[in-house]
Amino acid sequence: MVTNVQTNSQSNQIVNSWRLCVAPMMEWTDRHCRYFHRLLSPRARLYTEMMTTGALLHGDVARHLDFSAEEHPLALQLGGSEPSDLARCARLAQQWGYDEVNLNCGCPSPRVQRGAFGACLMAEPTLVRDCVAAMRDAVSLPVTVKHRIGIDRTESYGFVRDFVGTVGEGGCSVFIVHARNAWLDGLSPKGNREVPPLRHDTVVRLKTDFPQWTFVVNGGLHERPQIEHELARVDGVMLGRAAYHDPWRLIEWEGLAFGSERHPPSSRDEIESRMVHYMAQRAAHDGTPWTAIARHMMGLHLGQPGARRWRQVWSDHRLKALPPAAVADLATQARRHQQVEAAITPA
Ligand SMILES: Cc1cc2nc3c(=O)[nH]c(=O)nc-3n(C[C@H](O)[C@H](O)[C@H](O)COP(=O)(O)O)c2cc1C
Repeated sequence: MVTNVQTNSQSNQIVNSWRLCVAPMMEWTDRHCRYFHRLLSPRARLYTEMMTTGALLHGDVARHLDFSAEEHPLALQLGGSEPSDLARCARLAQQWGYDEVNLNCGCPSPRVQRGAFGACLMAEPTLVRDCVAAMRDAVSLPVTVKHRIGIDRTESYGFVRDFVGTVGEGGCSVFIVHARNAWLDGLSPKGNREVPPLRHDTVVRLKTDFPQWTFVVNGGLHERPQIEHELARVDGVMLGRAAYHDPWRLIEWEGLAFGSERHPPSSRDEIESRMVHYMAQRAAHDGTPWTAIARHMMGLHLGQPGARRWRQVWSDHRLKALPPAAVADLATQARRHQQVEAAITPA
């Protein structure tokens, strides 16, 4: 069984490895986004975008799996339903140095449903159990599952309880629960993140019924009291959209999850300059354009004076040929200019 605590050698505190997680998000949580989030939260557990077994077994493995050493602790999320394929992918994850393999049982997209994985796997708990068991046999990493609390209009607690119980028999002891149903018919993936009602209490009930396992609650969390409340009831919280759109708050959430942050970044400018350094490194290493990295930082100054102009500069592809340090200078000037304008414009 996976132990849900680790000793933090620097502070000697016992911390739960899943206490604060940043959600897997397709097109969003690529390696550059994760590097950025790591600067803001040294201890959050970061998740990759979902990677299908097909893409991994037949595609460019290095392109899909490479990451920076700074990203640890880092989980690879897999999409698939064939135990032997998942086992091969889990082995790749271990070889590549990931800290966890997570199986997606929550994605409702039609494309994923056609592939018969994602949320529709919740209807096949014994298959998920076998998938988990095959991955566990292949690797020594924690094998975890991210799932919903039900599919379609099934609101029965027994459905998700039996799912968790069966999957646990395969050796999964960490469950990340997006606390709403997936409506597989007629609702877009975006709608499926907003429309089915959130029921966080269901995750607490699971924790009560399976106290020996780790439960992480996900869905709609962003306000401090909510997060404090959930951290007192279950083992951890996973944040998705709030972390992406308002990344500076990761510092606050890190404090809530682990106690005061050891070396909080002093300012948004410091984070930006470290990202500029990273952009220059990536460009020199493999020619990654800064635009591919900057797109994840758009929320850095959210709510601050001058944020709009700053974002406009960093998202202006006409500046693509400039070195990132020069773009950063322009963005800072634009931000200050907007601040001055705001100060002299009569209300
Ligand atoms: C753009 C986007 C892409 C997502 N991609 C994935 C994914 O690849 N795998 C997954 O398990 N969940 C995915 N999700 C769902 C999130 O992981 C999370 O469960 C959901 O957004 C609810 O959490 P939140 O309210 O904190 O955002 C995605 C969400 C968004 C917004």
